[in-house]
Amino acid sequence: MALFKKKQAEIDPERLPKHIGVIMDGNGRWAKKRGLPRSAGHSAGADALKKIVTEANNLGVKYITVYAFSTENWKRPEAEVNYLMSLLLDYLKNAEKTLSGENVVIRCIGSRKELSDEIQEQIKKTEKFTSKNDGIVMNIALNYGGREEITNAVKVLAGKVKDGEISAGEITEADIENNLYTSSQPDVDLLIRTSGEQRLSNFMLWQVSYAEMWFTDKLWPDFKPADLRQAIIDFQSRGRRFGGV
Ligand code: IPE
Ligand code: IPE
Ligand code: MG
Repeated sequence: MALFKKKQAEIDPERLPKHIGVIMDGNGRWAKKRGLPRSAGHSAGADALKKIVTEANNLGVKYITVYAFSTENWKRPEAEVNYLMSLLLDYLKNAEKTLSGENVVIRCIGSRKELSDEIQEQIKKTEKFTSKNDGIVMNIALNYGGREEITNAVKVLAGKVKDGEISAGEITEADIENNLYTSSQPDVDLLIRTSGEQRLSNFMLWQVSYAEMWFTDKLWPDFKPADLRQAIIDFQSRGRRFGGV
């Protein structure tokens, strides 16, 4: 019998990532493996998400951004897009109930004008009724693209140059940052992607500049709070230099 149990690595609450980004990938493959339609994978993925947000909030993480629908996901079959939109609408509608007592602040990031009027209205409602909370901020990236976000910031700044409010030569990184959907939020320090793919797929191109990347082969619906804790433990074991020595 071993005298000592190997000490399990623990999360240091003083060194949590401030902002976690999650590319929730693999719903379709999860369903396929079970002989189910892709929609079943998306539905299971939405359930997995609830548990992860709760866990991140309990751990004391301040910001989490989850990639729910990219500006490229419109390329999918219409029935799948419609299903994803209905799932997102339900998620937003039920947020008050499912996240009650959890103190989550929900914000949607991405381009809204392509979304249905119903979803746009629901986003406003959900953002409003969670805005009084002071727990974790959950950004739902919905019709989100990193390139669209930066292009949008450039357009705003170009308008200000045209109106003589600022001069082109004086534009700073902070000016760009202030015109992103995540203005006033810290950069992403830990980026998680499930399903074995190791790419950004247009997610938070600006904000992940110095993020630690963590990949797992697990498919999103199988991603559990214990996996999130493992990602944070790995994050805390890394040396971040930000270009220094
Ligand atoms: C992620 O799962 C969910 C969305 C992109 C909306 P996928 O639907 O991309 O699942 P796979 O990658 O096909 O398995
Ligand atoms: C990224 O996953 C988008 C979301 C998770 C919402 P995709 O499945 O769309 O990405 P690719 O096509 O594999 O790059
Ligand atoms: Mg995918």
